[in-house]
Amino acid sequence: MQELSGEMPIGIFDSGVGGLTVMREIIKQLPEEDIIYLGDTARVPYGARSPETVSRYSFENTEFLMSKGIKILVVACNTSSAVSLGMLRGQFPIPVAGVVEPGARAAAANTKLKKIAVIGTETTIKSAAYEKAIRAIDESVKVSGIACPLFVPLIEEGRLHGDVVTLIAGEYLTQVKSSGADTLVLGCTHYPMIKHVIGDIAQIPLIDSAVETAKEVKQILAEGNMFRKGGSQLSREFYVTDSPEKFALVGEKFLGHKISNISKINLGG
Ligand code: DGL
Repeated sequence: MQELSGEMPIGIFDSGVGGLTVMREIIKQLPEEDIIYLGDTARVPYGARSPETVSRYSFENTEFLMSKGIKILVVACNTSSAVSLGMLRGQFPIPVAGVVEPGARAAAANTKLKKIAVIGTETTIKSAAYEKAIRAIDESVKVSGIACPLFVPLIEEGRLHGDVVTLIAGEYLTQVKSSGADTLVLGCTHYPMIKHVIGDIAQIPLIDSAVETAKEVKQILAEGNMFRKGGSQLSREFYVTDSPEKFALVGEKFLGHKISNISKINLGG
């Protein structure tokens, strides 16, 4: 086993651009850390696939990031976190942070009416991972899960504004309104990219687990005395399994600055 050191990078993966919402927050809270980001864009969306397939993809993504010598893994994908976090923690000898538990904590702390709605991919909603995590904190909370399968393809196509996304969001969010929830969890890391649209329609506080996840990563690094000391030049590397150009186009729109250093890799044979 390779010994972990503070000088190693943080490894983050998602099925596509969604994990950039988490990366942005990690950069905000940990600006001195090197980061390697993997977007499995050839196999996105994960959210309509079975837990077995998502777990296999998650394993392959992690193996790749491990080969780059990371000190902590951030599973910046709710679908992967919902169905494969336990497996990844068991298989790889590094700290692993997911996005479901941090989001559940923030939602449970916010609700006054004890009614929380969660929007996410089909696999995340079917897994009931949020419901379990929220009810483990407060059993009296009612959790309504709503799958929004069209959001991820729209976002991957760069449709972050406009009539189409507003229309589809309007339809999905009627169920959020009828649930009577006072808190809405964005249970997919792609969704913060359209949070302006979702927030306008839902009119209740939105929980984006990125902030909480970044806090957790910071805490894990602090506990292990694993912050980067700095000195050498900061490095941010991006890997994708499909077109780097397309990833950059949408990613830059969201991050608001240029993404360079993107390489295409093959995973899964
Ligand atoms: N961004 C991911 C999530 O948080 C994956 C969405 C997908 O690939 O379907 O669930």
